[in-house]
Amino acid sequence: MFQMDLLKGRTILITGGGTGLGRSMALRFAELGANLFLIGRREEPLAKTCEEIRAKEIRAAYVSCDVRDFAAVENAIAVAEKEFGRVDTLVNNAAGNFIARTEKLSPNAFNSVMGIVLQGTFHCTLALARKWIAAKQPGNILNIVTTYAAANSGSGFVVPSACAKAGVLAMTRSLAVEWARYRIRMNAIAPGPFPTEGAWSRLMPAKELEERARQNHPMKRFGRHEELANLAAFLLSDLSEYINGECVVIDGGLWLRGAGEFNDFVDFPEAAWDVLESARKK
Ligand code: HXC
Ligand code: NAP
Repeated sequence: MFQMDLLKGRTILITGGGTGLGRSMALRFAELGANLFLIGRREEPLAKTCEEIRAKEIRAAYVSCDVRDFAAVENAIAVAEKEFGRVDTLVNNAAGNFIARTEKLSPNAFNSVMGIVLQGTFHCTLALARKWIAAKQPGNILNIVTTYAAANSGSGFVVPSACAKAGVLAMTRSLAVEWARYRIRMNAIAPGPFPTEGAWSRLMPAKELEERARQNHPMKRFGRHEELANLAAFLLSDLSEYINGECVVIDGGLWLRGAGEFNDFVDFPEAAWDVLESARKK
């Protein structure tokens, strides 16, 4: 679908780029010609993903960095600039999340997720956009949120994440307008369930939960990483230059299944439909 040089000449910074969806995006963007700079806290997955990218003869580098620390983010960007000259694209993908009854949370548990997701996104966005604006150069930002942010529904049992992701979506829509005059675009993707070690170990820790989630899905399957990575590539590319402030849901229809009042009818057996339809004929 894409020309293989779609992202050629770009340098893309991905937060949380060593694992899960961040890693899959990094590998796909590399195939499409971009240089990659990855940040995260743990060095090992960052180094491993960079090696995989370099094996494709694409430039990649990383630095260990906690996005909650603004000075560390500024330092990481300085390292990226030393390596590549300039970073022109940012993917705010790093996140923290866990399932918990909210009344059991400590204030620090709430702060921890808000710090990674909302402040971390702001830190990376601010540090790069200041540079782009000062240099009068365009920029491109993609934020990874969730369907409970996109649907404006929130979600019980993941309240810190629901609050933080809603904030990221508000930031996306606000800055899309405020910074359009600087040729900075900002969009979001709201993924449904995509199997990753990070998300599954915290949110889907038992096989039964996983199977229940699959059975409740309208398409009876989870997302494939390449589906999300291709959408991200499109939204970052010049093919989508007029898309700004948008949040694209990629969940196979999952959140809508819970929203429509009669959607549970998908589980009706044939016999139940026979009864319903014969009642109409009377
Ligand atoms: C309640 C918890 C908790 C849990 C940690 N805490 N885990 N509280 N239930 N399961 C509390 C701790 O007790 C502590 O509070 C505070 O949170 C900070 O914990 P630390 O372990 O010190 O924090 P830190 O090392 O910064 O780790 C952050 C983390 C961790 C969010 C807690 O899980 C992490 O590093 N996650 C990164 C990766 C991740 O979460 N990936 C999944 C993204 S999936 P006290 O008061 O004791 O100090 C995703 C999908 C969404 O977002 C949509 C799915 C459909
Ligand atoms: P993941 O592999 O756990 O990704 C989270 C990444 O963020 C990790 O690489 C982690 O690396 C990094 N990170 C966490 N805290 C950080 C911090 N303080 N500073 C820097 N980096 C930090 O999980 P994933 O499923 O791929 O999630 C990726 C994104 O997709 C997240 O935004 C998530 O909310 C979103 N999402 C995922 C799903 C899904 O089903 N998988 C659904 C909806 C939304 P370190 O721990 O090494 O720092």
